[in-house]
Amino acid sequence: MSSYEPKLVCFSCKFGWGYLNHEEALAKQIKNWVPIICSGKVDSSHILTAFRQGADGVLILGCRGGDCHYQDGNYEARKRVYLLHKILESYGIEKERLKIELSIDPEGSKIPQLVKEMSDSIAKLGPVKKIGEPAKAVAVV
Ligand code: FES
Repeated sequence: MSSYEPKLVCFSCKFGWGYLNHEEALAKQIKNWVPIICSGKVDSSHILTAFRQGADGVLILGCRGGDCHYQDGNYEARKRVYLLHKILESYGIEKERLKIELSIDPEGSKIPQLVKEMSDSIAKLGPVKKIGEPAKAVAVV
């Protein structure tokens, strides 16, 4: 059995995920967890930097459709993920390594499970291929 354990970074919107729980308590359960003000604030550069710095996968948790406190940040994030899938694939990186989930989980109790499920699926892919700086011609949204 392999000892490979994927490194996953999880960004989660504070308005939809875990707002009834203590951040410190959740942080103890979830490695590399980054609570954010809105999924729309997760820039492409944050995601690509995570991969460049050794993440094997990135999970974004945003508010469900129609519930974003910043109007359409969750939809913008979903569009960004769709476009980044194309960019990652152009680097030979499987799109399954970047995922977004739009839902609600006030207690944050689903976050560790979602992280585990994604980690398990990434473990089957193996470590991510290293990516360098993006070519200047690549438009990052
Ligand atoms: Fe939660 Fe925008 S406020 S995704």
